[in-house]
Amino acid sequence: MAVDWLKQAVSQSEKLYPYIPGKPITQMLRELGLSEAEIAAKVSSTIKLASNENPYGMPPKALTAMVDAAGEAHRYPDGDCFELKQTLAKKHGITPEQLLIGNGSNEVLELIIRTFAGVGDEVIYSQRGFIVYALASTAAGATGVAVPESDGFTHDLNAILDVVSDNTKVVCIANPNNPTGSLLKTSELQIFLDKLPSHIIVILDEAYVEYVEDILEDSIHGLNHDGLIVCRTFSKAYGLAGLRVGYAVAKKDILAVVNRFREPFNVNGLAQAAALAALDDHDWVMEKVQQTKAERTRLESALSELRCLAAPSFANFVLFQHEQASVLVQALEQEGVIVRPLAPYGMPDILRVSVGTTSENDAFLAALSKVLP
Ligand SMILES: Cc1ncc(COP(=O)(O)O)c(C=O)c1O
Repeated sequence: MAVDWLKQAVSQSEKLYPYIPGKPITQMLRELGLSEAEIAAKVSSTIKLASNENPYGMPPKALTAMVDAAGEAHRYPDGDCFELKQTLAKKHGITPEQLLIGNGSNEVLELIIRTFAGVGDEVIYSQRGFIVYALASTAAGATGVAVPESDGFTHDLNAILDVVSDNTKVVCIANPNNPTGSLLKTSELQIFLDKLPSHIIVILDEAYVEYVEDILEDSIHGLNHDGLIVCRTFSKAYGLAGLRVGYAVAKKDILAVVNRFREPFNVNGLAQAAALAALDDHDWVMEKVQQTKAERTRLESALSELRCLAAPSFANFVLFQHEQASVLVQALEQEGVIVRPLAPYGMPDILRVSVGTTSENDAFLAALSKVLP
């Protein structure tokens, strides 16, 4: 008799499912039933606006540094990310011991949750929060507690406080939030943190912080809570999604414990070199952030005119609404544009489109106008 491997696996496996990412271009074209030759011909004209990547590419200095680093790829990387930590520590006015670098902020989130929450513990997050919080909590054997947003889009901090119990170990809050795009003020977060016991770990996930730096106080120095861990990434504004680098900032004693769970060489050498150089290309990064924000405003107005804008966004994506959202996804794919369905986040009638370049956004809007019934 065939072995039931799910039964052999740890019990929480039954509640887990693989993360569904934004659809890669070649996968979408394969699903349309195209031949290999047709796929090759269509790849460059197909537009992926489904994973909130930087549409302008990576900072030029990062590309050069990565290519230079490739010659050393036969060696293990620096497992402690010494240089990257030194530079990030200077940038944030902290010590290198207050940093933990990961294979994307995704790994950092998983490490933190696995370190502090296990069987019998609870991890709280918003119902429409980043899905990885739920997956990582379940994988760790902990119980996830999902709290509905106040207006469908904004974290309800009072409702989160209401479900805090003796079993609560971790609270996860993304600001700006993905996928809803909402933003909490630093003052609102501090009022919330003041009401929370100091031993509870709060993951403040700032994957999209570069898009609000001009309107949000720096949380690394502006917020006060013993268990606060601020997470950042090089995947969005810094344009290094494919290289996988993210980091956490917290008290050194907290990160020393998390570091016990980290695998030896979790951040590869090309990624370390590129991240270091990207920090040195700050002007390029901020110029692209400005362009993205201008394009976001343009997309929001156009979606408003089409009467389908779902909510204002503070990040590099916009939500739009349609009662036949899943049909729209397929129709847009036929037109060569991939967007992100939010049904897995409990929003079956909402789609998320990442802000692309001007020409990508034009193509998306043209395709949308064409396929809207
Ligand atoms: C809120 C949020 N946190 C974390 C991540 C993970 O990013 P990465 O692992 O690429 O750093 C994402 C990616 O979409 C995100 O939206």
